[in-house]
Amino acid sequence: MSATILDGKEIAADIRSEIKSEVEELKQKGITPGLTVVLVGDNPASQSYVRAKARACEEVGIYSEVIRKPSTITQQELLDQIADLNENPNIHGILVQLPLPDHISERAVIDAIRVEKDVDGFHPLNVGNLVIGNGAMLPCTPYGIIEMIKRTGTEIAGKNAVVVGRSNIVGKPVSMLLLHENATVSICHSRTRDLKEMTRQADILVVAAGREGMVGKEHIKPGAIVIDVGVNRTAEGKLTGDVRFDEAREVASYITPVPGGVGPMTITMLLKNTLTAAKQIESV
Ligand code: GUN
Repeated sequence: MSATILDGKEIAADIRSEIKSEVEELKQKGITPGLTVVLVGDNPASQSYVRAKARACEEVGIYSEVIRKPSTITQQELLDQIADLNENPNIHGILVQLPLPDHISERAVIDAIRVEKDVDGFHPLNVGNLVIGNGAMLPCTPYGIIEMIKRTGTEIAGKNAVVVGRSNIVGKPVSMLLLHENATVSICHSRTRDLKEMTRQADILVVAAGREGMVGKEHIKPGAIVIDVGVNRTAEGKLTGDVRFDEAREVASYITPVPGGVGPMTITMLLKNTLTAAKQIESV
């Protein structure tokens, strides 16, 4: 079997065109959704993500601004900046690009973002609402992953889903979303005893461990849907995932490539969250 490739760019383009029409409708009511991305320091990967986010906003008609701050900024200065954005009526979404420099507490910064403007879905209230299934602002990567799985036409209910990785950004929230879709969910991590035995039970396998090529053919149940969230750079500077794509596609039914899989979906769901935030804040 050779797996169907889940083309994140194609799926993202469909969703972005839906978002674009909704943004136009809002603009006719005098509301322009607005997103601010705050970038601290000069991490090259963060700079490239932030550029991509700004470009995507422009494409669908969302107003966006990037606030760049030096890595010497104090935590209080950053908190003051967030307080301003919380009050800014033109801004519906606030995203502080992570990671932050060591002298700044990421937790304190995330906690300071007004919950309704937390388009990353990282605020503890949004995380709590996600767990209890209470209409939370969903974190973008997990949200994008669920959309991709749904668009295969596969019924998630009753399936075995295995998530490799337990990060707050991907592993934990995607597990929760899969559970809400009535999958039977297992979360594996660095202390899991027999990873292969676990992953081979997966009808849906989500790999978000950040370890280049750690999942191969031997980990995959024939016919499984494989979602690769890894973004790693090889020694030659090539972008690659956590899954060995060429061998995995021989056994999977669907598989996401890296790049061009989950990545474009993450940014798309950020646009969607910004639109949702604008509608909620403006009560339309
Ligand atoms: N850094 C890497 N991924 C993300 C993300 O999804 N949101 C934010 N704010 N920072 C990140």
